[in-house]
Amino acid sequence: MLKVGLIGFGFMGRMHFDNYVRLAAEGAPVELVAISDLLIEELKNKSASGNISTSQEVYDLSSYHLYENISDMLEHEELDIVDITLPTYLHADLACFLLEKGIHVLCEKPVAGNSADGWRMAETAEKSGKTLMIGQCLRFWPAYEYLKACVEDGRYGAVTSGYFFRGSAAPKGWFLDGSLSGGCILDMHIHDADMVHWLFGKPDKVSTLARNVIPGSGYDTVSTHYVYPDGKVLNAQADWTLEGDYGFSMTYRVNFERGNLVFENDQLKVHPNAAPGFIAELSDDMGYYRQIKYFVEAIHQQQPVSVCLPESAVGTLEIIEAEIRSADAGGILIDL
Ligand SMILES: NC(=O)c1ccc[n+]([C@@H]2O[C@H](COP(=O)([O-])OP(=O)(O)OC[C@H]3O[C@@H](n4cnc5c(N)ncnc54)[C@H](O)[C@@H]3O)[C@@H](O)[C@H]2O)c1
Repeated sequence: MLKVGLIGFGFMGRMHFDNYVRLAAEGAPVELVAISDLLIEELKNKSASGNISTSQEVYDLSSYHLYENISDMLEHEELDIVDITLPTYLHADLACFLLEKGIHVLCEKPVAGNSADGWRMAETAEKSGKTLMIGQCLRFWPAYEYLKACVEDGRYGAVTSGYFFRGSAAPKGWFLDGSLSGGCILDMHIHDADMVHWLFGKPDKVSTLARNVIPGSGYDTVSTHYVYPDGKVLNAQADWTLEGDYGFSMTYRVNFERGNLVFENDQLKVHPNAAPGFIAELSDDMGYYRQIKYFVEAIHQQQPVSVCLPESAVGTLEIIEAEIRSADAGGILIDL
């Protein structure tokens, strides 16, 4: 039985918590034993806020060992896995420390605040022989897995163009300090940049127009073109200034030589050029569940992970860094 410690019990901590509880109930060889958060005493009676609802508003944590301090948790618990759902600027040092202690780590995206820290994490994982996986969860999201399968097996030919979008109202707290979160371009838009990277490899060049609307939050409105040798036209946009009743949305439209896929309102429509369109039948499971299940199974079976390796997540972070350089220079093409 793999013993898990969860560090961070904000929005993502609760989302991961839900999935460990579900996996254990389904008989997976995993047990969440301990939770650490600076504010655990306060948080255990409070709801968290995020783009997607967690299963409960207020959680009963009476059967878990709770720690305000990470070192106390590591001193008192024998853990096989630590799951890091802390703010981005805390990922790198903690992940390296845990790997060096001989613990497998699942760490939320973005891998780190900058690629130098990300490479340090990847190198530490390599040296330690422990597994480090980064929660770029779209790689496990059914509608995006379907897209990946279409790109890989070529059932509709080659991709000619694509558009990806995600947006919401401004998040709260540390996210609004761009020096801590990296702003929407690093925090939210990285999901689509990672999908472009996962589907097509690194682009040759990027060109980004971005602006800051919420003072101090970094680039919070973003549009990037990704340039590939075959000339496909790819654009990803993100915006966390969509206030009022907007809520949250993630969408894509990808055109192939012989059909197109449109994902919106949680529904994936497939339009082959020469046959009637249909709605793809997809698993209802969110990528978060599928990602944690994959990670736990790999550790249990002592198999290496091949999705969301740190090296690949850092590659995505390097794309974001090139996008920021392009935006800083008014949208000029930047080589990767
Ligand atoms: N995969 C996704 O779709 C997705 C969605 C949202 C957030 N995230 C990522 O997850 C990470 C966490 O985001 P969140 O929305 O859960 O943030 P959050 O602010 O809701 O939660 C962070 C938690 O960390 C705790 N914390 C802060 N410093 C600490 C410390 N030194 N020791 C112990 N606890 C500490 C805070 O008290 C808080 O409860 C970020 O990297 C974010 O980018 C990923």
